[in-house]
Amino acid sequence: MNQALLLECAARYGTPLYVYDGDRVLEQYRSLYDFIDYDKLEIHYAMKANFNVGILKLLRDAGASLDTVSPGEVLLALKLGFDRSKIIYTANNMTDEEFEAVLSLGVTMNIGSLSRLEKIAKRHKGMRLCLRFNPDVTDGDSAATMTGGDLTKFGILFDDLDKVKALVDRGNLKVIGLHEHTGSGLQHTESVYRSMDNLMAIATPENFPDLEFMDFGGGFKVPYKPGEARVDYRQMGREIREKFVAFCQGYGRKLKLYFEPGKYMVAECGSLLVTVNTIKHNRTRTIVGCNSGFPQLIRPMLYGAYHRIVNLSNPDGKEAMYDVCGNICETGDRFAEQRPLPEVRESDVLSIENAGAYCYSMGGVYNLRPMPGEVVVVKGVPALVRPALTNEELVDRILAMSDGAIPKKA
Ligand code: LLP
Repeated sequence: MNQALLLECAARYGTPLYVYDGDRVLEQYRSLYDFIDYDKLEIHYAMKANFNVGILKLLRDAGASLDTVSPGEVLLALKLGFDRSKIIYTANNMTDEEFEAVLSLGVTMNIGSLSRLEKIAKRHKGMRLCLRFNPDVTDGDSAATMTGGDLTKFGILFDDLDKVKALVDRGNLKVIGLHEHTGSGLQHTESVYRSMDNLMAIATPENFPDLEFMDFGGGFKVPYKPGEARVDYRQMGREIREKFVAFCQGYGRKLKLYFEPGKYMVAECGSLLVTVNTIKHNRTRTIVGCNSGFPQLIRPMLYGAYHRIVNLSNPDGKEAMYDVCGNICETGDRFAEQRPLPEVRESDVLSIENAGAYCYSMGGVYNLRPMPGEVVVVKGVPALVRPALTNEELVDRILAMSDGAIPKKA
């Protein structure tokens, strides 16, 4: 994002602050329609990556569909005016109560376990649903984000196809879609093709005669590290199209093609702006202390993820090596370790890049610090879509929520 604009946002709204480039989000969304030239393509944005209301509204107005994973996500989407027909619900390990609540909202349910399918076959005869299979392909940018393969909890194994068919018959169910999701930040385009092939192999008219769509999940990666190659999505789009068109010919009907990107849509569109308040020279390390911490951007600490850091205030400073740390009482509270940066001084504003996906949305208030505010920039104009709570407001909310639990003095 434009560095002058980021500095302006930091000055106007204070830090820590998330800033998202709304136009870039729309560009990312539209680029997939350009790359995957198939007229029945539907991009379901995985809103778990970033549920900022400003971003969701931009995508709603652009016609996007959604991938949702909790009753809360479905409720937010419906309240924002997303059409229920555009929402797919892919929760795992859901309770009966959650299942019934979401079902009653009329969105398409994506079912990833025999246990749930069995209950549906018993209680919801004739239901239209999507089935999630485990693609049997393992890929992702960290072990924690690989969803395919036997070691994960996701999807139904292909080995269980006969059991699935028996349950579908027993419940007279209508399987309108098949789904798989291989992982997040897929390192090899081959993995996308292999997962597609594996799922398409069982999607025969004999097995599933009522299919209306095939959903191949998300996982499209974007570069995080300097010099990391960008996937040739135009080429990948061509291959996907070719595969899917051939599949539809075999199936005998032109099906809809769904993808569910999260990172691809928003990761590169966001920055977390933080201000340096302390510089400490330890024996071997120079430690930069700033006014944010891992509860506000947890990916480096949780996955060892790399996020580029830009010193907005001193871009031409002499390069030195730093540990960039937060303000939380844990040693692992670091955004970067041994990172070369242009000289960092107290009061400098740093931008932690690629902070649009799974950063705010995975945040929390550990150590009782309010989450940063969020700004969305559209056509160069910033809007504070969600202000940060003050310390006072955060504490008052906690007290108000817990009020009934405070024992009254006798
Ligand atoms: N569809 C399903 C069923 C998913 O489980 C996910 C992500 C997506 C789509 C979107 O994947 P994406 O395009 O964003 O890679 N917190 C982790 C990522 C977890 C992804 C969980 N599921 C991270 O920060 O790397």
